[in-house]
Amino acid sequence: MRGKPLNLVLLAGLILAGVLNWTVEWNTSEPNFEFLPEMVRSVPFNSFSANPNFSDGKTLQRPPEGAIPRGFAPIHYGPTPEEAVRAGEELRSPFPADDKEALERGVSIYMSFCAHCHGGSGAGDGAVVRRGYPGPPSLLAEQTQTRPDGQLFHIISYGQGNMPGHAAQISQEDRWKVISYIRSLQQKNQVTQQSTAVQPES
Ligand code: HEC
Repeated sequence: MRGKPLNLVLLAGLILAGVLNWTVEWNTSEPNFEFLPEMVRSVPFNSFSANPNFSDGKTLQRPPEGAIPRGFAPIHYGPTPEEAVRAGEELRSPFPADDKEALERGVSIYMSFCAHCHGGSGAGDGAVVRRGYPGPPSLLAEQTQTRPDGQLFHIISYGQGNMPGHAAQISQEDRWKVISYIRSLQQKNQVTQQSTAVQPES
């Protein structure tokens, strides 16, 4: 008996809700009640919304000709072997050969991005090559030794033959640093070659 008034109130509420539900028009093609509409519909134009402020009616606009992303430095060379030779004539490494920090960074870049093909010592016997990938020439050979740094920079950036370009993965600075490391490998190899060459005489 004690719960009777409460039950009546609940019953009245149920009937009221039923009537309201029946009287409110239900249109599934329109959004329902929107809470905080200024958050649902943002004031600025969304990237893909129509935009009457531009002649083509779109919000996303093509960047102006020649625009580059922040922090991106373009290389003004094409992807051809002739352009690689031109890069060799014109570009100089910003890092001197005795820059220890550059060399250390070059080692880490080489081990992450190059050693699986070129091998740890640059001899062209990386793990991928041992599994059948067409092997690169030894980076210690005269052919690579005599190419100027700028040409190596171009090759690393754009690739050459079976080697893919690495411009997307390795920053320009790091590409120069990996060249410092290749030079140090070549130098070490020359020293050991000279020492083995004099050995028979001694
Ligand atoms: C997928 C395997 C692969 C990877 C990874 C790779 N290379 Fe190569 N690389 C090659 C092959 C193959 C060639 C020979 C291309 C040709 O001339 O046909 C080559 C050629 C080169 C040459 C030119 C040699 C010459 O004198 O002609 C240089 C320099 C070089 N690579 C440096 C690098 C450096 C530095 C990296 C890492 C940033 C790297 N490569 C990553 C496969 C690779």
